[in-house]
Amino acid sequence: MTFILPIANQAGSAGKTTTTIGVAGGLAKLGRNIVIADGDGQANASYHLGIEDPKYTLGDLLLGRCTLEEAIVQTKIPGLWIIPSAERQVTEVTELARQPVGAEQRMRRAFEPLIGGVDGIIIDCPGSLDIITVSAFVAAKGKKDNDAANVVTVIAPQVKEVQGIPKIERTIEDVRNAYNPRLQLAAIIPCMIPSSQAGKMYEQVVEQARALYGDKVSPVLRRSVRVPEAYAYQLLIQDHAPDDAITKDLNTLTDWFIEKDIV
Ligand SMILES: Nc1ncnc2c1ncn2[C@@H]1O[C@H](COP(=O)(O)OP(=O)(O)O)[C@@H](O)[C@H]1O
Ligand SMILES: [Mg+2]
Repeated sequence: MTFILPIANQAGSAGKTTTTIGVAGGLAKLGRNIVIADGDGQANASYHLGIEDPKYTLGDLLLGRCTLEEAIVQTKIPGLWIIPSAERQVTEVTELARQPVGAEQRMRRAFEPLIGGVDGIIIDCPGSLDIITVSAFVAAKGKKDNDAANVVTVIAPQVKEVQGIPKIERTIEDVRNAYNPRLQLAAIIPCMIPSSQAGKMYEQVVEQARALYGDKVSPVLRRSVRVPEAYAYQLLIQDHAPDDAITKDLNTLTDWFIEKDIV
């Protein structure tokens, strides 16, 4: 069956898009069929996958301006599709939030035809707990109907990022109570961990997260110049830098997601 997995955080520049592309690309390389939904008006996931100036966006789909078939674009990576974003999605999201009834249910309904047809949908959320993030939490589901509906968050190694986790947990609780009884925070991914020469603080932040959240904290993604490079070249990190530590980290993370039954 099909999982729907939001990757969310209320802060920008935590590593959400990097994680989305890395894990979705890792799963596609394992032969899975994955759709990325680009929830961010900055459209970084779309750009990374070479989709610029798309005809339709996720915002168009949620506003009923196109069909699901029209919104989904095949990427050049086998097994990987995207419902893209573009700058205009920022205005579209404002319009969506103004709808008097049921705006946050539209994503769940829009993705229904994909259930059973693809292995999973990964939603790259914007850097705020806005209507798109809430809609993604409403749409979230596990592989089978009775499985937990998971949310994953990503943190840069800063104390304030760990301090921000309770905020996303509160939004998850609100959506769980209102719409999605199986919703839970399944994983916290530490991203952009510098080499140990950079100082003890970064390791201490990860240790602090582990003390608070236990085995929900995933293996870390190390900092690597290959990440922004792969974005600039519009290549999967795994293809751009197959021998770099970050590719090893992304493979470890993808395996960890599979072991945890999140994907
Ligand atoms: N492991 C990493 N090493 C180096 N740079 C990274 C790493 N992860 C992300 N970045 C860079 O940090 C910036 C923010 O990452 P991004 O994934 O776009 O975060 P978000 O989607 O949470 O805003 C981007 O420029 C990205 O290239
Ligand atoms: Mg992003």
